[in-house]
Amino acid sequence: MKTDRADILACLRESEDYVSGQQLCDRLGVSRTAVWKVINQLKEEGYLIESASRRGYRLVESPADVYSESEIASRLHTKWAGKKLHFFEVTGSTNPDAKRFAEEGALHGTTVVADRQTAGRGRRGRSWESSAGTSIYFTIVLRPKFSPDKASMVTLVMALAVAEAISEVTGLDTGIKWPNDIVVNGKKVVGILTELSTMPEMNEIQFLVAGVGVNVNQNSAEEFSEEIRKTATSLRIESGKSVFRAALLERILSRFEEDYEIFEQTLDMSVLRERYEARLAGRDAGVQVLDPSGAYAGVSRGITDTGELVVEKENGERVLVYAGEVSVRGLYGYV
Ligand code: BTN
Repeated sequence: MKTDRADILACLRESEDYVSGQQLCDRLGVSRTAVWKVINQLKEEGYLIESASRRGYRLVESPADVYSESEIASRLHTKWAGKKLHFFEVTGSTNPDAKRFAEEGALHGTTVVADRQTAGRGRRGRSWESSAGTSIYFTIVLRPKFSPDKASMVTLVMALAVAEAISEVTGLDTGIKWPNDIVVNGKKVVGILTELSTMPEMNEIQFLVAGVGVNVNQNSAEEFSEEIRKTATSLRIESGKSVFRAALLERILSRFEEDYEIFEQTLDMSVLRERYEARLAGRDAGVQVLDPSGAYAGVSRGITDTGELVVEKENGERVLVYAGEVSVRGLYGYV
């Protein structure tokens, strides 16, 4: 559901030429005055819109890295992913926000986006650095019909969608550190935190939220805290170019929608596996599995159709590593 503002913006962006006021009224089913009001609001937000009598309006330029509900919504052509958007300039964390919306009945695909988080959460109780104006922080609500044991694969599906979207937009070679960190040149650019709410006493998912943080436009490693400086990076640091966040988010949501629908058909990774493995960081290289019952070394050989990492031990034995239970490190460094 686009707002009038997002719709008008989409019409202007998608047209090479002027769009007449009448065309906008017809398309949106609103009055001339309503169109005129929206155009003025957009101008106030920094959009450069030319108006010419008898010809209408033309979008000449958008403000640099404008990141707002209308800008994002005006780019989305998805069926359900991000169809309902909640945009916050600042929030605690988009994951609990999404859970709250889900508890209030939010539809499958509802997405919460923030420009800044004051209490960004990472996995294993860690925090997620979430400064303003630099990154993408979003959480999508899903209402799957499958059983909770399949849920961990959604994280892999998201990782694949985000990794491919980043490569498409920036040309960077993205890798996936199983199960769901995305790395560029051996450093982390994306983290994903999936949380599940199950029906009490029932083997059913009530909803699932998948939260994604992408380090996008940090200029240098100094913008990260000392704690993560050696292992984190941003798309801008790696590509040397700043990235338009709304456009990247659109690509992520659109690819995720497609891949999630593929996943839903088989409820496993069988169809997506080849693409996932093509990005698997450290495939056929040494890994250290930090299993609570004892760490061991081996060689990462890919994933199974159900998303476990296949690790070959020195004695040739193949072990399946389950997400969530253990942590996997490359033998040398972060990846
Ligand atoms: C990780 O530890 O790698 C997972 C990080 C997940 C960060 C994202 S940012 C959007 C959403 N909101 C949060 O507080 N966390 C997730």
